[in-house]
Order: sequence, then C-alpha cells, then structure tokens
Amino acid sequence: MEMLRVLITRDQIAANVAELGARITADLAEQSVVLIGVLKGATIFLADLARQIKVDSTFDFIAVSSYGGATQHSGEVKLVKDVDYSMEGKNVILVEDILDTGLTLTFLKKLFLAHKPKAFKIAALLDKPSRRKMPIEGDYVGFKIPGEFVVGYGLDYAERYRNLPDVCVVPRE
Ligand code: IMP
Ligand code: MG
Repeated sequence: MEMLRVLITRDQIAANVAELGARITADLAEQSVVLIGVLKGATIFLADLARQIKVDSTFDFIAVSSYGGATQHSGEVKLVKDVDYSMEGKNVILVEDILDTGLTLTFLKKLFLAHKPKAFKIAALLDKPSRRKMPIEGDYVGFKIPGEFVVGYGLDYAERYRNLPDVCVVPRE
C-alpha cells in the first residue's frame, strides 16, 4: 500500500459528490429516481451520492464482467447480473465508478434504453477522457483524471483497495 499516491482526497470527493447530488436533485424537480449501481466499484459512490439526492429514490444493481486481475480491459462486456425491477417509465441514473474506454457504458446504455425508461442519465465519479474508444459521455461526472490506473473509494486492483477513502494512483512497474 505504501507505493500508492493520493490523487483525490476524501474531502475533495465529499465536496464533489455533494455538488453532483444537488445538481441531480434540481434536475429531477421532485420526481422519483432509480439509482442503478454497477457492481462492485460503484457501491461506495452510490451510497454517498444517494444521501445527497433529496428526492424519492430506489436502488438496483447490475454486474458486468470487465477487468480481471489486470489493468487492461478485455474489450468484452457481458451482463452477469441484471436489474431486479423494471425500469420502464422511470427516471434512471446509471451509477458507475469510472468512465474509461466507454465500452461498458456504451453496452449498458443500449441495453437500458431498450427497456424504455422515462429518462436515462449516467453518473460517474471519475472520467478518463484520454482513454475513450467509444463516443460516450457522463451526465454527472465528478472528476476528469489522466489515463492512469486508480484505486480506492470502490475502485479495485485485482479486488484490493476498494476500501481506501481516497482515490490513489497505482504506479506502473
Ligand atoms: P470501460 O468499459 O473501459 O469504460 O471501463 C469501465 C470499467 O473498467 C469500470 O467500471 C472499472 O471497473 C474499470 N476501470 C477502468 N479504469 C479503472 C481504473 O483506473 N481503476 C480501476 N478500475 C478501472
Ligand atoms: Mg466497475
């Protein structure tokens, strides 16, 4: 753990998440919302963001296969766990930890739109625009960061470091 370098502190995250929550609350104009978290990386962000959203909210979760033990994306996205409830006619916000190549969110957006939500938005704590392979953007983005591999605040490296309160950079050997 000593080799990790803090990129975004817990205080910066808290301030930013509060702002995102306020924006989402204003945009929803007292309508209800379904927050759909992408397991497992988005869990901590979703927990904090949800408490900053001041309208009626429900949670759902999906799981996709993405990274294994390596820092390179396989390029293949597969739905491993679907939502528990219908999103038809609902205001849906897909909550992701990080927007990287955009492969995952492009796949999920197409899948979700087929279920006819009333509105579909993407919230991502982090965004690495320089790494994008698909033309997709988040609607509520916390921080744009360089194309380095990061961990903490839900994000992992081979399942480790999710519990770190700060977002940290893992140096490449
Ligand atoms: P994308 O499909 O390339 O946009 O990748 C999105 C997924 O890759 C995220 O949900 C993360 O699970 C994972 N990911 C991308 N970059 C990082 C990183 O820097 N640290 C940890 N996980 C990452
Ligand atoms: Mg993830």
